[in-house]
Amino acid sequence: MNSNLIDSIKNLSKINNKNIVDIRHHLHANPELSFQEFETSKYVKIALENIGISKIEHKANTGLVALIEGKNPSVKTIALRADMDALPIKELNNVAYKSKNEGVMHACGHDVHTSCLLGAAQILFSLRNEFEGTIKFIFQPGEEKLPGGASMMINEGVLKNPDANAIIGQHVMPLIPVGKVGFKSGLYMASTDELYVKVIGKGGHGAMPQLNIDPVVIAAQIIISLQQIVSRMSSPIIPSVLSFGKVIANGATNVIPNEVIMEGTFRTLDEKWRLEAHDKMVKMATMIAESMGGKCEFEVRKGYPFLHNDETLTAKAKQHAIEFLGPENVIDLDIWMAAEDFAYYSQIIPACFYRLGTRNEEKGIVSSVHTPTFDIDENALEIGSGLMAYLAIRELAYN
Ligand code: NI
Repeated sequence: MNSNLIDSIKNLSKINNKNIVDIRHHLHANPELSFQEFETSKYVKIALENIGISKIEHKANTGLVALIEGKNPSVKTIALRADMDALPIKELNNVAYKSKNEGVMHACGHDVHTSCLLGAAQILFSLRNEFEGTIKFIFQPGEEKLPGGASMMINEGVLKNPDANAIIGQHVMPLIPVGKVGFKSGLYMASTDELYVKVIGKGGHGAMPQLNIDPVVIAAQIIISLQQIVSRMSSPIIPSVLSFGKVIANGATNVIPNEVIMEGTFRTLDEKWRLEAHDKMVKMATMIAESMGGKCEFEVRKGYPFLHNDETLTAKAKQHAIEFLGPENVIDLDIWMAAEDFAYYSQIIPACFYRLGTRNEEKGIVSSVHTPTFDIDENALEIGSGLMAYLAIRELAYN
């Protein structure tokens, strides 16, 4: 425990807080969709330059990577990551910083992640003579859209030169009250794959099924049967979920259509099982269709891998968070079956992805991410900036 360090970081984040709130308001009011973060990227670059940071590089078009070197910069490098993209949602909040870009909204808190990382950069720049090693700030595009900005940044060498020894990222969590943060060691978030299925039969009059091949019944059979992959063929200790949210059979009460379109998602937390499950789904669906006289085209579009929080790094980060926020403000989380492209970093180097509480029931701030009324209690900004800075310094100083 280093109480002087904690005091000076808390003091710096307090002094800088108005600036970070302003930055968040600007980003929130000017959201940009995945891979189109041109103005956001310019704005973040200027903010980094205003801090005094000179080592800034562009990656993956709209992505940025910046370095702050402490004493003996080559000793160790810690990467801190934020995502910058917004979602195609029309904002319904009536706030002064409401989105000015109609139909686009920071509804997943990436404005918060970006402003907190700028806040952490401000603090760490002030303290650069107090730590050893290098801190790499990653502002990535396109978290919300395949192939994921993280994979593009990695392909362009974001984790290299200097090589990052570990990476830390944070994400807003409206289920957790503001003031608290949450950690989950080991397996945390799911891989996600999109399923595009076309069941082909032979349409005709609903009164004469013997003359047709009914793709609706085939599709129904496939939906039910595929659930056995997650309930009977998957190990009970590996979480898996298979959901079809879109099924279109565009016939009529008395018309059997020619084909049925289905779209779904498959998520799990084991790479070997993930690939086996893909094979089983395709085989089962195709054979069911054939056995009933139809055909099935089954495409699996691979998304993000599962997110693994390194046990050692996460245990240390959690302990450091307890030092910074108090034990009552650090909670344990469960596996979360949503996906996140931070998973790509976690497949390469030790990673820790934790959650920043943003909920405030008294203020009515309770909406989920990806909804038109999502917002945060902005007290989270000071916590998110300060904690990020503290975690980075402690990871550098204590290894
Ligand atoms: Ni997000």
